[in-house]
Amino acid sequence: MSLDAKQLRGALGRFTTGITIVTCRTAEGDPIGLTVNSFNALSLEPALILWSLRNASPSVAAFEQAAHFTVNVLGQTQMDVSQAFAGRSGDRFAVGAWGQGLTEAPLLRDALASFECARESVQVAGDHRLFIGRVLQVHQGEGEPLVYHAGCYRALGDIL
Ligand SMILES: Cc1cc2nc3c(=O)[nH]c(=O)nc-3n(C[C@H](O)[C@H](O)[C@H](O)COP(=O)(O)O)c2cc1C
Repeated sequence: MSLDAKQLRGALGRFTTGITIVTCRTAEGDPIGLTVNSFNALSLEPALILWSLRNASPSVAAFEQAAHFTVNVLGQTQMDVSQAFAGRSGDRFAVGAWGQGLTEAPLLRDALASFECARESVQVAGDHRLFIGRVLQVHQGEGEPLVYHAGCYRALGDIL
């Protein structure tokens, strides 16, 4: 039975997520990053998280050689950061207040949360690569999250 790609995308889009910017540095020291909603918790002890990067991404080589990466969770007011890091044009790091944390990977200063990670493993999984990171340091900010559902940015709904 063949699965319809459009239906699969549509069904996956019903799973509501937050939005993150995952960053690292190239071997030359240049900052790179992209918008990612495949981020998820994996293990508490040891502290592990995961995310996936499409194999065709020009960022694959950089993330595979980088010893560290940082996952920055966006707040409700940071839709512009998400759009910049998912787009093709310009200097992505011109949008958002970027700084440095424990590792060389860029840290978003006013993120809702950040996870500074050591790259634990990378494996090819279909048309993506699965990155697992060991969390070295966490940061928590204040505010409401930026939410993503069915291809649209949203604000958090009511508490039930
Ligand atoms: C809300 C949202 C979530 C995304 N999640 C992912 C993801 O988990 N993995 C991925 O490879 N691309 C994801 N993308 C697409 C990348 O952000 C986009 O293709 C970006 O241009 C990739 O950067 P690159 O040019 O360095 O590959 C997402 C885009 C959006 C808007």
